[in-house]
Amino acid sequence: MLAAAVGLPAGLGLGLLVALGRLDPLPAILTMAGVMALTAALILPRFRDLERISRFAADLSDRGDLPVPVPRHSRAAAELAQSIARLRRSWETQSGQLKSLALSHETVLDSLPDPLIMVDPGGVVRRANLAARLVLGRVLENQEVTQVFRDPLVLEAVEAVLAGAGGREVPYVVPVPVRRDFTLRVEPLPTATAEGAVAMLMLHDITTLVRMEQMRADFVANASHELRTPLSSLLGFIETLRGPAHDDAEARDRFLIIMQEQAQRMNRLIEDLLSLSRIELMEHTPPTGAVRLERVVSAVVGALEPQARAQGVTVETALPDDLPAVIGEREELAQVIQNLLANAIKYGVPAGASAGRVEITAGTLRRGPVAMPQATRADCVFVAVRDHGDGIPKEHLPRLTERFYRVDSARSRQLGGTGLGLAIVKHILNRHRAAMVVDSQVGGGTTFTVYLPRAASGQQLDDDPPGPSPRPARGNPAAA
Ligand SMILES: Nc1ncnc2c1ncn2[C@@H]1O[C@H](COP(=O)(O)OP(=O)(O)OP(=O)(O)O)[C@@H](O)[C@H]1O
Ligand SMILES: [Mg+2]
Repeated sequence: MLAAAVGLPAGLGLGLLVALGRLDPLPAILTMAGVMALTAALILPRFRDLERISRFAADLSDRGDLPVPVPRHSRAAAELAQSIARLRRSWETQSGQLKSLALSHETVLDSLPDPLIMVDPGGVVRRANLAARLVLGRVLENQEVTQVFRDPLVLEAVEAVLAGAGGREVPYVVPVPVRRDFTLRVEPLPTATAEGAVAMLMLHDITTLVRMEQMRADFVANASHELRTPLSSLLGFIETLRGPAHDDAEARDRFLIIMQEQAQRMNRLIEDLLSLSRIELMEHTPPTGAVRLERVVSAVVGALEPQARAQGVTVETALPDDLPAVIGEREELAQVIQNLLANAIKYGVPAGASAGRVEITAGTLRRGPVAMPQATRADCVFVAVRDHGDGIPKEHLPRLTERFYRVDSARSRQLGGTGLGLAIVKHILNRHRAAMVVDSQVGGGTTFTVYLPRAASGQQLDDDPPGPSPRPARGNPAAA
């Protein structure tokens, strides 16, 4: 512009003067050359300014921390440099915000406990959160949904949603390494995501729910079965007494004894079920009292003495005099010791033998077993009930505390057991934030060790003498 502004009028003026004969061509050409040289001298520094700014703009795309050049010859160029620098700064801020937004979306998705997968219209996984990678496989992105899920129900649901149908829910099972049950929800996304995903698959883990439902169903089935057995026996005897044995006084007496046993068995079962449900209700509130275990043990040993004698079992107790008190509820702890000792008496006589021996020992530990909750593990008191019976095969050990679980059902029933004793023990110990460890050798006997948190030294002792065992001692009713 400057060249045109200066050069054009000068050129036209000189041309006019030459045309009118007022100026010779040579001086006109020389003057014109002078004007051009002057114009170039004026323009060139500005060009250099623009060149510097253009280099600055180019370098700025690679590095954001460059100093802004200060053009000396053009104010417009200086303003341009400032504007470019401002633009770069605002782009940097916005790109930072976008990055942190994307990162926080990623973090939120990854911190979701439920697996989540997004697929594009072609059924290819475009995004998967951490939970999905853990449950379904490490690399999910870019895999066909048909490779991730083999279940036809799931694939049908995905296909339908990708074809435009509304969201739907199907069950989904991951069989290995441990079976897990999920509900899988397929939902269309309102708008496609940046990665091109148009539908979302969400899995919700319902394994615990399914297990609980299974346990509930098993429990009802087991409880009714346990009740039905003595009940059928009772009904059978009533029928016999009303019919063929109506006038047989001797048979009547014999049958009445058996009927009484069966009725007592039903009664025990109901008592145990009620006891279990009461303990479960209280399980979330740990006891606060301080109990002296040696008193509880000696009361229970005394109560089970007749039963032990009837089975030919000697019970030896060796408890230290200075055994510290434990945090607990006396009645419940008596129930624990009573169940363990009753089992040791019942199952502690080896097959073929006529006598057995049970030892009860106790002591303190600086640290309880890992089965104990972290909060109560330090400083605990243990009580061990050891018998020298046939022992328990290893595979049964993890299931002993399940309701109605018996190693040898026929033997246990014949001995009058309901199969609820150790389940009751487990729930009482859960409430006490305590633990039990079973150690058994086939042919070498079994030791049940209970670990309880120790009471603080200044804690008020529960000095009441232990009452009668809330769960009556039992053994083989025929032998008792
Ligand atoms: N000391 C032991 N030695 C061998 N087996 C045992 C011992 N204690 C328990 N068991 C096994 O564990 C099973 C479950 O014990 P639990 O005390 O829960 O039930 P139970 O003794 O059969 O019946 P209940 O205690 O209700 O009278 C028993 O049936 C028995 O098979
Ligand atoms: Mg028992």
